[in-house]
Amino acid sequence: MPTMDVDGKQVTWEGRKMILQACNDAGIELPHYCYHEGLSIVASCRICLVEIESPDPKDPAKLVKVPKLVPSCQTPAVNGMKVHSKSVKAVANQKAVMEFLLINHPLDCPVCDQAGECHLQDYSFKYGRAESRFDEDKAKKSKKDIGTHVMLYSDRCIMCTRCVRFTREISGTGELGVFGRGHREQIDVFQGKSLDNPLSGNVIDICPVGALLDKDFLFTQRVWFLKSAPSISPFSSGGENIYIEHNQGRIYRVKPRFNKDINKWWISDDIRYGWEFVHNNRLQAVTSVAAPGGLTWQQGLEQLEQSFKQAVTAGGQGSTLLMLSPFDSTEEMFLAATWARKMDPGCAMALNLSRMEPQDQVFTNPATGAVTYTIRADKSPNRLGAENVRAHFGGNVLNFDGLAAKVSSGGIQAAALCADPIAHNDAAVAAIFQPLKNLTVLSTRADGPVRQAALGLPVCTWAEKSGVFENYQGVIQPFAQAIAPLDGTRSTGSLFWQLLGLPGQYDPAAVRRMMADAGKLQYASVKLPERHEKIELMQFAEL
Ligand code: SF4
Ligand code: FES
Repeated sequence: MPTMDVDGKQVTWEGRKMILQACNDAGIELPHYCYHEGLSIVASCRICLVEIESPDPKDPAKLVKVPKLVPSCQTPAVNGMKVHSKSVKAVANQKAVMEFLLINHPLDCPVCDQAGECHLQDYSFKYGRAESRFDEDKAKKSKKDIGTHVMLYSDRCIMCTRCVRFTREISGTGELGVFGRGHREQIDVFQGKSLDNPLSGNVIDICPVGALLDKDFLFTQRVWFLKSAPSISPFSSGGENIYIEHNQGRIYRVKPRFNKDINKWWISDDIRYGWEFVHNNRLQAVTSVAAPGGLTWQQGLEQLEQSFKQAVTAGGQGSTLLMLSPFDSTEEMFLAATWARKMDPGCAMALNLSRMEPQDQVFTNPATGAVTYTIRADKSPNRLGAENVRAHFGGNVLNFDGLAAKVSSGGIQAAALCADPIAHNDAAVAAIFQPLKNLTVLSTRADGPVRQAALGLPVCTWAEKSGVFENYQGVIQPFAQAIAPLDGTRSTGSLFWQLLGLPGQYDPAAVRRMMADAGKLQYASVKLPERHEKIELMQFAEL
């Protein structure tokens, strides 16, 4: 494997890599602005320049010092090379670039949303000067609303062009360009255009400074108060990896989490901004038609159990139904199905199908034709998990049409329905269950099917619990609990855990072990991908 020496540390890599990329992969960070692993290389910001000694092509044992500093982001790593990023010359360049970038940059960190996660702020702390030598007036540029989700603060921009390259190479929409020259140069949308493509929020993540900001997050939190929980998107069968960023029980934003095989550095705006349902219109108490004043959780669970017992007594085995939700974790569905078949070995099982668009939305790089991102047509995050659980238990399985016929003919006398938390299919579900008197709905929402239920049980959203989702390719991925369950709610898993009489607290890992013991070995070990950092890793070369 090729090896080079970077500031006295040995770095190895495979294939053709630039110095900066090989260093990043080895955990050695070199300062950089314009370089982004997911975009083309332009080498325009110049902060990554390093001194190198390269093997002489005629005599590889001899090292030849390259007289000029070279951009580490654009210079291929060569076996036997020596790289100096902390030499006097390299550090002098880093300081000079910082001074140049700060000439016109406003000193508004206290009111800038990027403060705390800003490359310019961090590098300034490391390489900048305490005082500016620039006595003239700074160039002033305007703020601009450039799209549904994005604000542009032009005077904070350092012209790295990451955003422009994103719209050209990843979304393929090309709304952004560089206008003007010299200190008047600025980023803007082309006349008559607006940054409204379905991937637009990604430019906020890749902007290394506070020039492109999220309107949804603007002035809501200082980023150092936020905590991050690694999670999986609940809005798509793609299994996009995300971080839920939250504080004091409230979600403030969702960011992409790198996964080289699934979503790389990107997520769609649907995923980024869809989390509001966690804090809106929630069901927070057990509701019962028979007890208008409400029930305790214990009474609610007893009523659910009774409804299944009475149905089996009156109609025999097979007169009950469990409708699984592809928004629940696989562990929760496994427990729900175990309980339902314990109550009624003939219990019918159905899948609460969610939104399915006519087709995937595929984004390509117009120059190369390579697929850069796909928004999946299927919006169920765990359809495969639900299908696997249903297949594992087998027996009486119904589709939507079969279900409607069986309910309307009186073949189903009690049902437990795990409702869709995002109101994709309320009308279809309402029509199916309209004739059923003994319907229990497990719902996150205060509206929808729970309104027609004899019993309503308030359950958690995905952000308030942990478990695994299986994406459309069958990749089983864990998601962590971000915030505590809303008052009055419980996870679907915890209530079936209690109904099954299992000891202690609901434990998704224990359920995965039960599933592995039942022959579903793929659940035996589930872990986060090895590399799961936030979009940018910020570390600095020590001076
Ligand atoms: S707006 Fe941000 S990403 Fe775009 S060029 Fe300026 S600094 Fe770079
Ligand atoms: S990161 Fe290398 S020149 Fe900008």
